[in-house]
Amino acid sequence: MTTAVDSTRSKRDAPYEGPLLDVRDLHVEFVTRDGVAKAVNGVDYSVRAGETLAVLGESGSGKSVTAQAIMGILDMPPARIPRGEIRFRGRDMLKMGKEERRKIRGQEIAMIFQDALSSLNPVLSVGFQLGEMFRAHQGASRKEARDKAVELMDRVRIPAAKQRVNDYPHQFSGGMRQRIMIAMALALEPDLIIADEPTTALDVTVQAQVMDLLAELQAEYNMGLILITHDLGVVADVADKIAVMYAGRIVETAPVHELYARPAHPYTRGLLDSIPRLDQKGQELYAIKGLPPNLLRIPKGCAFNPRCPRAQDRCRAEVPELYPVTEDDGAPLAGRGSACFFWKETLHDR
Ligand SMILES: Nc1ncnc2c1ncn2[C@@H]1O[C@H](COP(=O)(O)OP(=O)(O)OP(=O)(O)O)[C@@H](O)[C@H]1O
Ligand SMILES: [Mg+2]
Repeated sequence: MTTAVDSTRSKRDAPYEGPLLDVRDLHVEFVTRDGVAKAVNGVDYSVRAGETLAVLGESGSGKSVTAQAIMGILDMPPARIPRGEIRFRGRDMLKMGKEERRKIRGQEIAMIFQDALSSLNPVLSVGFQLGEMFRAHQGASRKEARDKAVELMDRVRIPAAKQRVNDYPHQFSGGMRQRIMIAMALALEPDLIIADEPTTALDVTVQAQVMDLLAELQAEYNMGLILITHDLGVVADVADKIAVMYAGRIVETAPVHELYARPAHPYTRGLLDSIPRLDQKGQELYAIKGLPPNLLRIPKGCAFNPRCPRAQDRCRAEVPELYPVTEDDGAPLAGRGSACFFWKETLHDR
């Protein structure tokens, strides 16, 4: 046990070259009264230190369930993980004991949720809750914990932190509360932060400020960041790469700017076309037709086929794997993949 608030940890010195987090072929299902809901169906993604992965997809695509599996906070049952690996610094967390897993959670991987009000305790001051992280995990004294709390509130730029440390969550605005959530996540200097729709509940201008703050702190601490969102606008400036999810699978991966410029999956294309654009004011907004599939009965073949403008017979029969996306001459496009038989045609669509 280290004393007080000393946060130097030997693992930081250990040379480790691979990705911080490496999720392989992850499957998660829920046993319900109506049958087995297949929420996550073979997800692969990885995040390096200092890297931001945005996970994008409509409601119900499995973004949060994947994150909860990584955090180890799924209720099992009803959830079960029939297959897959979740490697953190090379070690499969699914094979770890409860205690080891608990240590990683919070100290090495932290999560920020959408709704700060329900994540913070309403009857305890913000300073107490922040300080508790240091008391519980690092054995800090009351005074040390309080000082650390003020320091963190300063870090996330809460004005007059010293005066506000004894205030309760409801005394802060939504944006400030979300900053407090970021402070909580940062407290133990984790290697990886998973932010699940961290700004969805906020006004657009406040959203941008909170997102900028998160990106700035992430760079400073060289953390990995998984940013879950269904808002393409939010991630454009902060993400390095994007994974697009549909019905529990990654259907497209790409460096962020390439995905915007040339999507290689009809679903991504649909998502991009449905963002309102200032230069096309007044024009009718495109919407992907139909609804996401019922996870108890995922369509045969490509799960997107009933909604896809490109669907052919093959798409209704075979499940496409994530194909590497290349230029016409076969030159590889680093980090790009599409789970569409017609990725080439889609790439040339625009
Ligand atoms: N405890 C549960 N029991 C049964 N099904 C569940 C349970 N938790 C999640 N699911 C199902 O898993 C699917 C994926 O949910 P998930 O929360 O990951 O979606 P999401 O992509 O995060 O969507 P959103 O954008 O709305 O947050 C959903 O269809 C959901 O109904
Ligand atoms: Mg979610």
